[in-house]
This record gives sequence, structure tokens and C-alpha cells, in this order.
Amino acid sequence: MTVHIGAAPGDIAETVLMPGDPYRARWAAETFLKDAKLVNEVRGMLGFTGTWNGHRVTIQGSGMGMPSLSIYANELISSYNAQTLIRIGSCGGMQPHVGIRDVIIAMTASTITSPSSGIFRELNFAPTADWSLLRAAVAAAENRSNKTHVGGIYSSDVFYSERPDLDDQMVRHGILGVEMEAAELYMLAARHGRRALAILTVSDHLQTGEALPSEDREKTFGDMVEIALEAAFSGS
Ligand code: HPA
Repeated sequence: MTVHIGAAPGDIAETVLMPGDPYRARWAAETFLKDAKLVNEVRGMLGFTGTWNGHRVTIQGSGMGMPSLSIYANELISSYNAQTLIRIGSCGGMQPHVGIRDVIIAMTASTITSPSSGIFRELNFAPTADWSLLRAAVAAAENRSNKTHVGGIYSSDVFYSERPDLDDQMVRHGILGVEMEAAELYMLAARHGRRALAILTVSDHLQTGEALPSEDREKTFGDMVEIALEAAFSGS
């Protein structure tokens, strides 16, 4: 048990999928895992462990934003020995060629600040996905109907941005989408020698104002879960 995770030692798998929303964690566990068992409900941040094609997997909610994700990822890594952590979530599209429902596989995640900024101080560390996971996710995504983009994303501290100029710079520099968690996950994985990746579905678009209809969310979210599971266990 840790401060924020009530699971017993051994209840968490080495591979952890992390949606922001705890109810998504429950839906994904019930839909994709065999024998899924609730292993955490502290603060309602649900976590489940089961198996996928014979491999043990935990699906643990991260909450929204880097400070929340940082708490769960730190505890999963340091107290439960998580080795592979894959964020599955939504993002806002930032490029005209990136459409609603498209999948973004985040090669890098830029930030203004993150819970790790205190360590890096003046250094602009480049948070980067694990190459083996990235490659496997791209291969898994290629077999599906979703349009997939691979590149840089922006992990923002705010959902309601008051800095349109900053968004413009992101667009100008080719950033594909904006979300609020991946950069801290990549920094923690780098610090502790673990594998991390963020796979995102475009749920809204900053330029067009378009948003994914709620009835489509489950199906598009399911595609992302499958890509994450295939990537996690590719070659094993
Ligand atoms: N901004 C930040 N995070 C997000 C967004 C967004 O537009 N859409 C989904 N997650």
C-alpha cells in the first residue's frame, strides 16, 4: 500500500495503462481484460488488474494534469515496480491535417513546467517516448482504420488557456496536439529507467472547434487501448 494506492504488493502488474478518467479505467478493464479485479479505489481513482492474451496488465486512472499523474506514476514505479507505463487519453488537435478521432502517438512532449521542473531548473530536458514502445505502437496502429500521427505534443498545465500566442507557436513548430500529462510521465520514466508512451485520441480541435460526439468516444477509446496492449507485449 502507498499513500494513494491501496493495492497489496503484487497486485499491480509490470505493465500499467493509465487513462486520466477512473471510469475509463473500469470500462477498459471490463472490456479488454480477463478476470479483471479491482485493486485500488483510494479517492475513487480506480485501478484494475487482469490479463490480456495471458499477460498481466493493470489499468490505473491517473487523474487530470501532471501533478496528479506524477503521484500515481511515482508510486507505481517506486513501490509496485511498474516497468512499462502507457498513457491512454484524449487531446486537442493543433494542426489542420490532424482530425477528430485520429490517433496521436507522442514521440516528445513539450512543457512550460512540470512537477519535475524543480530538478531540471535552467535545463530544458526533452521528454521522449520509449523507442521500442513507440515503434510497436506505430506498427499496431498501422493495422487499423484510424489515421495515425507520430510526433511532438504539448503537455499543458491548463485546459483553459489564456495564451493564444503560445498555442500559435506550438502550431508553428509542428506540435500535433495538446493534453496535460505525458511530459511528466516521460520524465519519470527517464529518471527511473522505465518504458513510457502516450497514445492519444483527438477529442476536440483547437482551430476548428470541432469535438468528438459522446457516442463515438467509447469506440475511439477502445482502439487506443488495443494499440497500447499490442505495443506493450509486442515481441513477448
Ligand atoms: N487542452 C488540454 N487538454 C486536453 C484538451 C485540450 O484542448 N483536449 C483534451 N485534453
